[in-house]
Amino acid sequence: MTTAKTALVIGASRGLGLGLVERLTEDGWEVTATVRDPAKVPVALKATGARVEALEMTNLESMDALKITLQQQTFDLLFINAGISGPLGYDTDGASAADIGELFIVNAVAPIRLAQRLAENVPDSGVIAFMSSVLGSVTMPEGSPMALYKASKAALNSMTNTFVVELARPQLTVLSMHPGWVKTDMGGDGASLDVATSTRGMVDVVTAQLGKGGHRFLDYKGETISW
Ligand SMILES: NC(=O)c1ccc[n+]([C@@H]2O[C@H](COP(=O)([O-])OP(=O)(O)OC[C@H]3O[C@@H](n4cnc5c(N)ncnc54)[C@H](OP(=O)(O)O)[C@@H]3O)[C@@H](O)[C@H]2O)c1
Repeated sequence: MTTAKTALVIGASRGLGLGLVERLTEDGWEVTATVRDPAKVPVALKATGARVEALEMTNLESMDALKITLQQQTFDLLFINAGISGPLGYDTDGASAADIGELFIVNAVAPIRLAQRLAENVPDSGVIAFMSSVLGSVTMPEGSPMALYKASKAALNSMTNTFVVELARPQLTVLSMHPGWVKTDMGGDGASLDVATSTRGMVDVVTAQLGKGGHRFLDYKGETISW
């Protein structure tokens, strides 16, 4: 008898997080998913049978409560997906300090704070995946209107680098993932991929990476992206 693999997906109310839960449960994984308001779990997430916990990424108490709830539990995959697009279309003077602060907290700092709390729940054979973006590559020349969002994902990649060095667990696999440009509330209707295609690709990539060790920046097809 084989034991089901276990996953914790952060930010699963809709979009790519919900799609990841759907693909993982289809593959027989036992999934725990987080949403901001567990009193309003979407029907589609309920239908997956995933266990649902509460998490607000901007709130340290919420993170600490999740850590206590998940004490002693092991996850083969921790996928930190939650993110926001922030103030799009502004030049560096136009966006408010509050909006810029929220963007960088949610997209770059909170994922690392959470990973620091939950890394001990992931064995060396497992994967911690951060939802990055090809836009976070500093070799990507595109500029506005996504300059601040791009910088927040570059900051996430940099913070992840530091996290990996400080953690000093070379056998653990850490992935910075690019999902493609995907039709979600964030990606918009004009995006090139649907959620099912992107998340099927990412789940296959993560599964293939289990046990490999090290830190890589990969897209949903498993191709390497330059930092
Ligand atoms: N779509 C794309 O083309 C694309 C491309 C590259 C990277 N990404 C990245 O992929 C991730 C998911 O994007 P998406 O397209 O699925 O976006 P989405 O449809 O807007 O979903 C965003 C998810 O993040 C959650 N979230 C946002 N702020 C949060 C907070 N403060 N605390 C807890 N949860 C929070 C949302 O929860 P609520 O429902 O409660 O708001 C929702 O579940 C993001 O990190 C995004 O940057 C997306």
